[in-house]
Amino acid sequence: SCPFGFGKTPSTGMTIKGEGKTTKDWWRNNLDLTVLRQNSSLSNPLGDFNYKKEFESLDYFALKEDIAKTLKDSKDWWPADYGTYGGLFIRMAWHSAGTYRTGDGRGGTREGRQRFAPQNSWPDNANLDKARRLLWPVKQKYGQKISWADLMILAGNVALEKSGFRTIGFAGGREDTWEPQTNVYFGSETEWLANDKRYKDGELEKPLAAVQMGLIYVNPEGPNGNPDPIASAKDIRVTFGRMGMNDEETVALIAGGHTLGKTHGQAGGDHLAASPEGAGIEEQGLGWKSDYKSGKGKDAITSGLEVIWTVTPDKWSQGYFKTLFENEWVLSKSPGGAHQFEAKNSVIKFPDAFDKTKFHNPTMLVTDVALIKDPAYEKISRRFYENPKEFDEAFARAWFKLTHRDMGPKSTYLGPEIPKEDFVWQDPISAENSSTITTADLNNLKSKIEASGLTTGELVSTAWASASTYRNSDRRGGANGARIRLEPQVNWESNNPAQLKRVLGVYEKIQQEFNKGNKKVSIADLIVFGGNVAIENAAKKAGVDVKVPFTSGRADATQEQTNVEGMAVLEPMADGFRNYQKTDYTLSAEQLLVDKAQLLTLSAPEMTVLLGGMRALNANYNGSNIGIMTSTPGTLTNEFFVNLLSMQYKWEATSDKKDLFNIKDRATNEVKWTATRADLIFGSNSELRAISEVYASEDAKEKFVKDFVKAWTKVMNLDRFDI
Ligand code: HEM
Repeated sequence: SCPFGFGKTPSTGMTIKGEGKTTKDWWRNNLDLTVLRQNSSLSNPLGDFNYKKEFESLDYFALKEDIAKTLKDSKDWWPADYGTYGGLFIRMAWHSAGTYRTGDGRGGTREGRQRFAPQNSWPDNANLDKARRLLWPVKQKYGQKISWADLMILAGNVALEKSGFRTIGFAGGREDTWEPQTNVYFGSETEWLANDKRYKDGELEKPLAAVQMGLIYVNPEGPNGNPDPIASAKDIRVTFGRMGMNDEETVALIAGGHTLGKTHGQAGGDHLAASPEGAGIEEQGLGWKSDYKSGKGKDAITSGLEVIWTVTPDKWSQGYFKTLFENEWVLSKSPGGAHQFEAKNSVIKFPDAFDKTKFHNPTMLVTDVALIKDPAYEKISRRFYENPKEFDEAFARAWFKLTHRDMGPKSTYLGPEIPKEDFVWQDPISAENSSTITTADLNNLKSKIEASGLTTGELVSTAWASASTYRNSDRRGGANGARIRLEPQVNWESNNPAQLKRVLGVYEKIQQEFNKGNKKVSIADLIVFGGNVAIENAAKKAGVDVKVPFTSGRADATQEQTNVEGMAVLEPMADGFRNYQKTDYTLSAEQLLVDKAQLLTLSAPEMTVLLGGMRALNANYNGSNIGIMTSTPGTLTNEFFVNLLSMQYKWEATSDKKDLFNIKDRATNEVKWTATRADLIFGSNSELRAISEVYASEDAKEKFVKDFVKAWTKVMNLDRFDI
């Protein structure tokens, strides 16, 4: 039995009017485009709102003081352990950050997602509703000057600092969203805490970073409740690894977190009512109501585990490793019936959270004991035990990384406490290799690019390959930095290394000719500008005069500023815009296309016009002609849409998997073109077909070019937080 209070679904006895099957229920394979229209202005009460401006007008240190007061202001409705909410707030911040996974960059601290389902009701987030409710008066006082997303992390920082720990800083800049996010895949199990689907192929399904549905990371009782610390260490390594943490960072984080606070398991989770999302209206958004005694304070149930890690749970100390190393651990059970370890014959006893006359044996979670049972973790733990300063330093750095790593480049950071140091996980870029570029400079560069012999396809696909590594999930990637020149990107299969290196060679020559005195152009700028030049010329060939907006100012990163292993997660699995797919996946080509479009923040119309335009520009991976449904490749016409929607042709799968198709003339049976699912979906999906009809119409020639240029420019500038 699991200790987690994942709550019961209340039976209201009511039939909800209109409840029934949705389109998605009737046709399960229907492509879901809703992820491309999240966070519309219709859900946002703030209208024209500039968070940076609001944050900068905030009395930051007064806010920190107010959080500090809240920490000590124990409320009867949820009494504070040891007179402080420090542990609770740190856990809230950690659980806000801990959903981040490197695989797709999704999850994490930005947007304040813990306020909404499913996170607000995850078993693992039990009673964090109380933490946010305790902070509400502070949020209310400062209004829109501080987002919930920033407040939750800052509260964790203040809690650490007030316990006596020195953090290395805090950056604001996480803007809230106003609805649950539907773009994050948390696994396909349909029961809380199940994990039968994610281990189907033997190892944890990518990009997931939690071992069970509804957990942030691992089961505190060991894998599926099996209290084996060594097996548990394996789970910890995988999940923390998927969060981008190495062994040292992992040990530092767990030990640092569990230096403060305690766990709550005076009885089992069966005493808890529904989680916030399922609770009755009179609960007003709170969940996990307990019917065990007073239901709070000394009787509180959160995880069902009952552990105190140190002798001073309200003060920063080296006590965690002291407790771990200086005791012999025997398996026992919490009062709630969950597996945990208890110290054998300990002379030291730990204080009770409420009763000054009561003391307890030292206790640890199975996952804590893993830190001295796994040989690699043990070595690190011992070093930290013997060198407290190293532990403090490692925890400070790992905590900052944990809580800031989904924010993107340092230029997005706000506030007076931003650490001066650059960290390699921020993907830093040096600014000194570019200068102001004038219109005359651009004309000069344009003629050089035109004379270089590079084709439209080469220019466009290189610019696209460089910029489209961007993912808004953690704001990594993008054209700035020109990391496409560096390992690992330069050798990614999707970048067609042979072609890419030839193109880069040409750009380097142009750069050498151009750079004189103070004049400097970065390769990052040249790559984007080259794509723009090609598009302007391709539009002209189609009879449309258009200027593709260009904003210089990108700089080139160095290899030393680039973590090769950390960058590897940005490698495209597939790129429907260039008809590229690395291998076979469970997801279809069209699902992968929508996923990429979501990471690029594209709407369905933007995705549509970009794909049609990329086909017209002949910018496929490897120069392939799949999906190039035009008689004039390299000319920016709307022919892709015209031909796709024309009843002159028929469509036949040429593979059993239905991933390749012939497009044949109905009259002659002649194969005119070939296509993938990423092409044909624009004719088969009813919504995408409706958009494609717009672009295929007689009156759309100019609109098509203009919309393409707009969407293209958006992608080129996605990482330009400086403009
Ligand atoms: C509490 C598990 C890592 C900070 C808890 C609780 C559990 C748990 C079960 C008890 C919740 C309750 O009953 O109130 C784990 C596991 C981890 C892990 C399995 C990884 C293997 C971390 C990390 C941090 C952290 C990385 C922060 C850096 C805390 C804090 C508390 C806590 C501060 C005390 C909460 C309070 O005093 O109310 N953890 N945790 N934990 N955890 Fe962790």
